[in-house]
Amino acid sequence: MGNSTNRVIVTGAMGQIGSELTPRLRAIYGKDNVLATDIKQPESEHEGPYEVLDVLDREKMESMLKDYEIDTIYHLAAILSATGERNPDLAWRINVNGLHNVLDLAKEHGYRIFNPSSIAAFGPGAPRDNTPQNTIMKPTTIYGVTKVVGELIGNYYFAKYGVDVRGARLPGIISNVAPPGGGTTDYAVEIFYEAIKNKRYTCFLNADTMLPMMYMPDCLKAFIDLMNADLDSLIHHCDFNLAAISFSPIELAKEIRNHIPEFEIVYEPDYRQQIADSWPMSIDDSAARDEWGWSPDYDLPAMVEDMIRVLSERHRKGTL
Ligand code: SER
Repeated sequence: MGNSTNRVIVTGAMGQIGSELTPRLRAIYGKDNVLATDIKQPESEHEGPYEVLDVLDREKMESMLKDYEIDTIYHLAAILSATGERNPDLAWRINVNGLHNVLDLAKEHGYRIFNPSSIAAFGPGAPRDNTPQNTIMKPTTIYGVTKVVGELIGNYYFAKYGVDVRGARLPGIISNVAPPGGGTTDYAVEIFYEAIKNKRYTCFLNADTMLPMMYMPDCLKAFIDLMNADLDSLIHHCDFNLAAISFSPIELAKEIRNHIPEFEIVYEPDYRQQIADSWPMSIDDSAARDEWGWSPDYDLPAMVEDMIRVLSERHRKGTL
């Protein structure tokens, strides 16, 4: 099975990752070769083909994939951890049934798939420090449960039907284009907007809640490098541990203060604290490093500097 990609679809293209992955893929494969889809109408003119798609609508997805002669699917449509706890049924339907539609169509038509997993696939019982690639997977959030199901069903479709489906357990993704929605790691994005606009942030996690995180440029690099890896060199498929930076809110605030000295943070933990406490604090990603050469570029100071530079510029222009 070859790795060549010519025509791509992105589901959840309006989300935090899709908003930056779509233009990156268009720069690589050509604007007209990347179809952006989302359940929402685009807010502004899209730089290339765009269709409204509910991933639960298998028939519409099937005809779209055929009409656009798609060969590769970046399946990003999902409900995140905090929203999932508020609506477990919706999380199951979108995250599991939506993926099942994608996998079944790939089984029939031979599409390649990228399907992200998450650090949320771990739960209490897994070591939280340098969490190993292979360990106890007993998440206590519905989001985590759906991500473990996604890893297992993806690996099953590869072993049983030869579907080339790949994925990594993403940490919290920090970015400055589209905001994340409904995640437990979202504080690490919100904090920048509030620091720049109001010099103050009320954090919904405790000061010392250490979580694995990653800056968006590293996330995009991971997606593209994993999809470009030679299939024969992969031992794992849908469940690569992936690490970049681990920090707590108090450490992030300290780094932000190097740029905005008057920045103040207060802590008012809510229901998301319990979710964060069930997740890893840091990750052992040696399998990704060994099998497809993963290595992140951004550490904490580099990420903070870049975030503040980009968002301050937008604030100056009045577009933040
Ligand atoms: N960022 C996600 C969340 O917080 C974790 O994968 O739900």
